Amino acid sequence: MLNALTDNHGRIVNYLRLAVTDRCNLRCFYCMPEHGLNWLSRSELMSYEEMLRMCRVMAGMGIEKVRITGGEPFVRRGIMQFLTSLSKIKGINELTLTTNGVLTAPFVPQLKDIGIKSVNLSLDTLDANRFFAITRRDEFTNVMHTLEALLKHNINVKINAVVMDGRNTQDIAPLVELTKDLPVSVRFIEEMPFNGDSHQFNTLQWDYLRILEEIQLHYPSIQKIADPAYSTSYNYHVPGHQGNVGIIAAYSRTFCGSCNRIRVTPQGMLRTCLYDDGVLNIKDALRKGDSDDEIKMLLRDALGNKAKDGRQAELQRHDIHESMAEIGG
Ligand code: GTP
Ligand code: 5AD
Ligand code: SF4
Repeated sequence: MLNALTDNHGRIVNYLRLAVTDRCNLRCFYCMPEHGLNWLSRSELMSYEEMLRMCRVMAGMGIEKVRITGGEPFVRRGIMQFLTSLSKIKGINELTLTTNGVLTAPFVPQLKDIGIKSVNLSLDTLDANRFFAITRRDEFTNVMHTLEALLKHNINVKINAVVMDGRNTQDIAPLVELTKDLPVSVRFIEEMPFNGDSHQFNTLQWDYLRILEEIQLHYPSIQKIADPAYSTSYNYHVPGHQGNVGIIAAYSRTFCGSCNRIRVTPQGMLRTCLYDDGVLNIKDALRKGDSDDEIKMLLRDALGNKAKDGRQAELQRHDIHESMAEIGG
């Protein structure tokens, strides 16, 4: 595309991760403390109108895929109408969501109707008691209803399971077993330090090799399969199973070389890397009346300064206090 957004290292940026809220109805141990975060007020959030305008401008610059994240997207009122409007923007060919599934089930038919083909569902355990221990909320049944509804409507599902020492490693094999009869991709994620100071993150106990060894112990026939371009996960398949298994080495691997994404936080900060502090306040630019062309220029400038290797920034940051819910994953 002539108009493509390219960063200063020649990487084409065609994927926006847009967090529509920092709020959540769960309190996952690895993401935020029991008392939650200092939630943003309504006026600090980008409005739906602002997000739609931003997405239109970005679509005109080559953004083709938008993933809506949070916090939990479905706790924001009016989300379905917003998704419907977003799905109509010319140029956005792929609209997807990452959700915890607590409130999602009743919306699944509408998600299907507006053309959503895949959803990433956070689910760290198949045991209701462990679910409560990890998320501090009794919502396991609702999440399972969402899984059923998504499959019933032929929406592709990637299950995200963060692996935590002493909390859900006994779930690794049962979650792989889920791929036997269900056409889902179960992805195990290395825990990252973005936990909103919910606990002290020391050294990673379960890196992707240890997760892989645990899977191989139970499924010795598991095979490596090709990783799609820009895949965050290393992908595997157990012969005879319908679904696949993935491991996201979110902590120990750098994704920088093939990074095709930008992030916008719930308060409208553009992050060109998971590890930067935000390089452009898009909400302020929109509110002070900048034209679409001015916003395009600001975006181009921001992309022109994108770090080649965000890992360096990451290694310098021993002081991560943010929650994943404030960034959008
Ligand atoms: P798709 O590739 O579109 O399916 O999305 P995804 O796997 O990036 O999205 P999802 O929202 O399901 O996130 C899964 C996990 O990958 C989360 O824990 C993210 O924080 C992590 N992740 C996503 N992008 C990056 C990245 O650029 N760097 C690192 N280290 N982790 C990432
Ligand atoms: N480490 C790794 N993954 C995390 N997520 C949230 N917090 C963390 C963390 N500290 C995951 C959620 C969700 C995805 C967007 O990010 O489980 O599936
Ligand atoms: Fe909510 Fe997702 Fe954070 Fe869990 S990981 S508290 S579901 S935002």
